[in-house]
Amino acid sequence: MLKSHNCGELKENHAGQMVTLAGWVHRRRDHGGKVFIDLRDREGIVQVVFNPQVSQEAYQVAGSLRSEYVIQVTGEVVLRPEGTENPKLPSGDIEVIAKKAVILNPSKTPPFYISEDEDVEESLCLKNRYLYLRRPRMKDNLLLRHRAIKFIRDFLDARGFVEIETPILIKSTPEGARDYLVPSRINPGKFYALPQSPQQLKQILMIAGFDKYFQIARCFRDEDLRADRQPEFTQLDMEMSFIGVKDILQLMEELFTSLVETVRPDMRLLKPFPYLSYKEAMEKYGTDKPDIRFGLEIKDISDIAAGIDFQIFRSVLDRNGKVKGICVPGCGHYTRHQLDALINFAKSCGAQGLMTIAFTGGAITLDEVKSAAAKYLTPNQLEEIAGRFEAKPGDLLLIVADKLNVVNKTLDELRREMAQRLNLTDADQLAFTFIVDFPFLEWNGEEKRWEPMHHPFTAPRWEDVALLDTEPDKVYGQHYDVVCNGCELGSGSIRIHNRQFQEKIFNLLGYSKEETESRFGGLLEALEYGAPPHGGIAIGLDRLVMLFAGERSIREVIAFPKNQNAVDLMLGSPSYVEKHQLDELNLKLKCGILRPKEKEYGI
Ligand code: AMO
Repeated sequence: MLKSHNCGELKENHAGQMVTLAGWVHRRRDHGGKVFIDLRDREGIVQVVFNPQVSQEAYQVAGSLRSEYVIQVTGEVVLRPEGTENPKLPSGDIEVIAKKAVILNPSKTPPFYISEDEDVEESLCLKNRYLYLRRPRMKDNLLLRHRAIKFIRDFLDARGFVEIETPILIKSTPEGARDYLVPSRINPGKFYALPQSPQQLKQILMIAGFDKYFQIARCFRDEDLRADRQPEFTQLDMEMSFIGVKDILQLMEELFTSLVETVRPDMRLLKPFPYLSYKEAMEKYGTDKPDIRFGLEIKDISDIAAGIDFQIFRSVLDRNGKVKGICVPGCGHYTRHQLDALINFAKSCGAQGLMTIAFTGGAITLDEVKSAAAKYLTPNQLEEIAGRFEAKPGDLLLIVADKLNVVNKTLDELRREMAQRLNLTDADQLAFTFIVDFPFLEWNGEEKRWEPMHHPFTAPRWEDVALLDTEPDKVYGQHYDVVCNGCELGSGSIRIHNRQFQEKIFNLLGYSKEETESRFGGLLEALEYGAPPHGGIAIGLDRLVMLFAGERSIREVIAFPKNQNAVDLMLGSPSYVEKHQLDELNLKLKCGILRPKEKEYGI
C-alpha cells in the first residue's frame, strides 16, 4: 500500500503517530511561510501542514501543488493549536506535519471546483463525471446507495429470498415504454429486446418453484426523460409465491422502516404507513402519487358551483366537468401580480384559467373578498364555499373548473407549488404511502380500447371476475403502488396464474391470438405446468436513494447517467459504427453510413 491510513479516519488518538497518506489536493492555502493542504481521499479530508522549518524538501514540493494533484505525504499527526480546530471536519482536531511529500500525478485545472458544491452546468458534470464524482456530496450519495443495496440484500437473504440474475438480452415485455432492441448477428433479421423489467422471467421463476426471488435488476426503457427517469435504471425486483396483497405490503413496510433506521436514522417516518385507495388519492390530491407530508387537500365544489350564475362554471358542468380547488392558508394578501403568476402557472398545467378567491379582511364576507367571481356569488354561496374549504380570514382559494383530468393535474401541481412556497414539505420526513384498489383497466379514448392500469399480467380482484364481460370499468385490480413524498417509488400486483384466464385478459386488451402467442407464448406455456399463485413488486432503487440523499434528480445518485437526450457525454455513446459491423448484422441504415471519426462527437 502507498498509504498507512485514510485521510478521514485520523482523530485525536492518532496524535504522535507517523502516518503516510495518499490522496488528492482538495484545497491549498499559503499562510505566513507555511503551506496548508486539505488532503482528500474516499474517507474524508485531513489538513496537512508544510513547514520549511520541519522539512525544506517537503515545503518545496508543496509550493508546486495545485488542486487535484495526487500526492503521497509522510508526517506526524499532532493536535491542532488551540483555537484552530475545525469542528466541521471529523479530523478537525488534528493536522499532519509533513516530513516528506511526493507528487504521484499532476492534474490539469478542473473545469469546476471539486471543493465547493456550487451548481455546475449539467453537460460539464456528465462529460467530466470522474471529477464530479470526486465531490464529497456525490461520493456520499454513492456510498449511501451502496449501503442501502447491501442492507436490502442482507434483509431479504435473512427472510429466505434468493437473488437470481435474469438475462439482459430477452424478448420484449410490455411496461409501457419503447424497447431498446439489439440485432442478432447469428439470427439475421431477428432482435433481442433489453428488459423493461424482468416481469415475465420472475413469474417463470415462481413457476420453477423458487418461492421468494429478488434481484437488483437493470431495466431499460426508451421513453422521454425527466428528473426521475433514466433510459437505464435499477429496480429492486421481487416476486413471491402463495401470498396476498397484505403480505407483500407488510414486508415492504418492514423493509423500508429498517432500511431508513439503518441508512438514514436522522430521517423521520410516518408510521404506520398509510393506505390510500386510488379513488381517495385522486379525490384528495388529484394524483395517484400524492405527497402527504402536507394538507392543502382538494375539495369538490361542483354542487355549489351548479347554483352559481357564472357562465364558466355552467359550461364546464354541462360538459360533465368539475369545479374543485384548494385553500392556501395565509395567502389572501397576494398582489395582483402574484395572482396573475398563479393563473399563468395553472394555464401551463393545461387549465383554461384559475379562479382565485382571496379573503383579505377580518371576516368571510363579500365585502372583504377579492375575486373576479365575487359579483356572481350570493353571501350564502360564499359562506358555503368557505365552509367546504374550512377557510379562514387571510386564506386564498384556488379554484379550477375544467375536465376532471385537467382539474386534477392542475390542482396537483398547484398543491405542490404552494407547499414549496410555504415551506410545508419537511425535508427530513419520509411519508411512504401505499396506494391500493386501483381500477383494473383504463379506457384509452383515442384508440378506443381498454388498457391495463398496471401491466397485462396483473390479476383482477377475484370477486370481480364475473364483471369482466359485462362492466369491465367496475373491476378492481390486485395492484398496488408505493409512493413516498410525492414520488412513485414502486408498483406491483398479484398475477394471473392460469393460462386460460391470462388469454382472456390479452383478448380483452385487444391482442390477437397470433400476437398473444408470438409475444407471450413462453409464459403462457409455463402457466400450464402447475403455476403457483404469486405476486410481486418492483421498487425504483434510484428514486429511493434519491429521496434518502435529499436530491431532486436520480442523476445525482447514479454514477454514470445519461443526459436529457439519452447520451453518455463522457464516453460519447451512442455512437456511429463501422460499415462492416452493420454488414455483419445484416443492417442497412436509412440515413446512410456516417464515418465514425468525423461524426462521433457531433451528438
Ligand atoms: P413499473 O413499470 O411501475 O413496474 O416500475 C417500477 C418502478 O421502477 C421505477 N422506474 C424508473 N426509474 C427510473 N427511470 C425510469 N425510466 C423508470 N421507470 C420505472 C419507478 C417505478 O415505480 N414489472 C413491474 C413491477 C411488478 O409488477 O412487479 C414494473 O416494472 O420507481
